[in-house]
Amino acid sequence: MAILVTGGSGFIGSHTVVELQNAGYEVVVIDNLSNSTEKSLKRVEEITGKPVKFYKTDIRDREGLEKIFSEESIDSCIHFAGLKAVGESTEKPWEYYENNISGTLILVDVMRKHGVKNMIFSSSSTVYGDPDHVPVTEEDPVKKCTNPYGSTKAMQETIFTDIQKADPEWNIVLLRYFNPIGAHPSGKIGEDPSGIPLNIMPYITQVAVGKLPFLRVFGNDYPTPDGTGVRDYIHVVDLAKGHVKALDRIKAGCGLAIYNLGTGKGYSVLDIVKNFEEASGVKIPYEIQARRPGDIAENYCDPSKAEREMGWKAEYGIREMCAHSWNWQKNNPEGYGA
Ligand code: NAD
Ligand code: WQD
Repeated sequence: MAILVTGGSGFIGSHTVVELQNAGYEVVVIDNLSNSTEKSLKRVEEITGKPVKFYKTDIRDREGLEKIFSEESIDSCIHFAGLKAVGESTEKPWEYYENNISGTLILVDVMRKHGVKNMIFSSSSTVYGDPDHVPVTEEDPVKKCTNPYGSTKAMQETIFTDIQKADPEWNIVLLRYFNPIGAHPSGKIGEDPSGIPLNIMPYITQVAVGKLPFLRVFGNDYPTPDGTGVRDYIHVVDLAKGHVKALDRIKAGCGLAIYNLGTGKGYSVLDIVKNFEEASGVKIPYEIQARRPGDIAENYCDPSKAEREMGWKAEYGIREMCAHSWNWQKNNPEGYGA
């Protein structure tokens, strides 16, 4: 029996395929390569020494999915495929709703037709909006999102919740990721954004390799200890391992389960700069600029439910997250494009 990983050649997907293979799972990857390259999967094979079965398929391609479900014996799906750029989603809302929502509906329909009713879904801390308090727990309200990307995550959570309620044969784990950074310690796979990075860590690593001149720090007047934004950064390998643990919950017949995946610790932008400099030995010049529209002061989670119910806890600290991000970028200054 195999695990279908949609979006498996992307940043989090590729790291998850490594952990699944390391845990002995057979994996089938589908991706339309709209934001990734098959090279990541070749690197996964180098890390694990095992072949990765890959289909270049779009999750909106019903016939393509039908064929895969007929040919492979799929037991569960880990669903990463989706568009994820917050800013772009405000410019192209239709494309985001169509890709993320239509894609998920088609995938779920093909799954149920083939009797596959086990799903792990990539949700996001973005569903908490600007939380009333930190750390946020899974009981805290899902708030109205300020951008179409966030809305697609909240809608997908609702869709999965309703499907599971209507048909209790489904086991669905919604994983709310906080801020994934880092890279596989081998330096073979990592985050490879196209164009100028939007997220902080790939921006910092590109400053460190000299591709960008300095980091723009978006605001230092937030009500946080040093005035810069505070987030719950989590090593992508820990995040990947969370999916392997979630499969155990599925096997135990969890019904619907929701978990925050974070470390529970908040770090500011300047904390990240300092830790990165210490981990890499490279100075990161920065300039304080205006706040970025839509940003919030702080967000970090209470990850104790995941530990209690899944036996999962983040192991890597901020220093390793920085060291591994740097190791990836230094060894692959052009990402997979080299
Ligand atoms: P990514 O862009 O690297 O990976 C997503 C993959 O999905 C890409 O390889 C892309 O080519 C593929 N894809 C997109 N639309 C597709 C479609 N219609 N059919 C088939 N493949 C398609 O992003 P990531 O950072 O690895 O994120 C993975 C998932 O986790 C996404 O759903 C994202 O929204 C979610 N998430 C990411 C973060 C983050 O900060 N990286 C945080 C929370 C949640
Ligand atoms: C982190 C901090 C910025 C870039 C986003 C999505 C969220 C989730 C994770 C998918 C903030 C500051 C950033 C820069 C900076 N993704 N910053 N200079 O905004 O917390 O979350 O990714 O679901 O939905 O919104 O992450 O890495 O962009 O920002 O000062 O060049 O770094 O202001 O305080 P964010 P980020």
